[in-house]
Amino acid sequence: MEQLVIEGGHSLKGVIRISGAKNAALPALAATLLAGGEFEIRNLPELRDIRTFLSLLEGLGVTNSPEAQEPGKGRRVVLNTISISNHEAAYDLVRTMRASVLILGPLLARTGAARISLPGGCAIGARPIDFHLKGLEHMGARLTLKAGYVEAKASRLTGAEIYFDVPSVTGTENLMMAASLARGKTTLKNAAREPEVAALGQMLQAMGARIQGLGSSVIEIEGVKELKPVSWDIIPDRIETGTYLMAAGAAGGELRLQNACPEYLEAVIAKLREIGLEIESKGQELWVRRKRRLKSADVTTLPYPGFPTDLQAQFMLLMAISEGLSVITETIFENRFMHVPELNRLGADIRVDGRSAIVRGVKELTAAPVMATDLRASACLVLAGLAAKGKTTISRIYHLDRGYEHMEKKLAGAGARIQRIRAEMPY
Ligand code: EPU
Repeated sequence: MEQLVIEGGHSLKGVIRISGAKNAALPALAATLLAGGEFEIRNLPELRDIRTFLSLLEGLGVTNSPEAQEPGKGRRVVLNTISISNHEAAYDLVRTMRASVLILGPLLARTGAARISLPGGCAIGARPIDFHLKGLEHMGARLTLKAGYVEAKASRLTGAEIYFDVPSVTGTENLMMAASLARGKTTLKNAAREPEVAALGQMLQAMGARIQGLGSSVIEIEGVKELKPVSWDIIPDRIETGTYLMAAGAAGGELRLQNACPEYLEAVIAKLREIGLEIESKGQELWVRRKRRLKSADVTTLPYPGFPTDLQAQFMLLMAISEGLSVITETIFENRFMHVPELNRLGADIRVDGRSAIVRGVKELTAAPVMATDLRASACLVLAGLAAKGKTTISRIYHLDRGYEHMEKKLAGAGARIQRIRAEMPY
């Protein structure tokens, strides 16, 4: 089993290149199912979730060229989607990656059939997919649930008016892809406004889809008969960017982040300036510096353009070492405080009360062995390791590899004392 060992207390200085966004790359890969032909996807991050999704597509008959590294530009893969020979996403894949559900809409719209294992709960909450299923039913799909799988059939989907109870990122993406090939007009109301949703919409537009309202909560899609393959660049990862801004907050020092997209992070940058980080942006670059101890502030996670749930754990680490008291309220997922006991093992003073965590800032954390529980909680522990005095060992870092490209290399390049080691487990 691999572990990260971090010797904390050393400030950062250097340049980090931000990778393509995992949560934009996954729907872009799913969208290739909508048209037969050769797609080129660029700026793909090198992540476990991306490899899993490519295997999922392979299982459906999509072939892909070996990924090639483009200097300064991330990875590039060519996918051939001419023949789709299977309609199933099996349990073994879906349970390792919930985003597998993204194939449901496009596969059904292109081929008339899809069979997908229901994902079940996960470390951060129940995370049902009822919005995806109800939406497709509204569009005329016939759904049956059997042996843990949902089977969907439709000769051609028809446009419908669909209202989301709460904005759902992958829900909006799935239905937008399905609606692109449906007969007539679909209106998605209370749709997700995340940049990754808008980027998928732009990719679909480039493929020939007729979509209006991207980036707003009402998206209108006029279905077309056929879409065509495209060459597409994945947008920068705003969650990775926010994580490195906060890494500078945790360790002190200064970082320059290249290939970032500052406009995706307005709520985050405003909050980080409020607690005392200096941040400047110019074009695709961000510069961040921490000169003194940070001050506490409250935060509530919200759908975009609010403060993202995917940065809640990392922000909590900053609050754990800031001056004062902070209340962090998580409104998106009901179980996203698994990092709290781990941070408390390092000397943090955090108490969870329902959907809020009350964080009393302490002067210093001290190193200890900790365990990652999910992707963003792992990133929070890495930041904690940078801040804590002594050597912190983080186990179960496979969570980190799902969503952060070479995190330890990027941080080591900016002066962090961080190492990946292979550890024998005693049992
Ligand atoms: N929800 C339902 N029913 C549904 C769908 C969602 O009740 O059918 C609820 C969820 O349980 C949650 C809320 O709606 O309470 C919003 O969930 P959403 O559907 O937006 O989440 P998601 O699409 O499953 C994506 C990201 C997550 C990110 C969330 C919120 C991808 C592949 N995943 O998940 O990313 O936290 O949006 O922004 O885009 C991560 O990268 O670490 C990660 C978990």
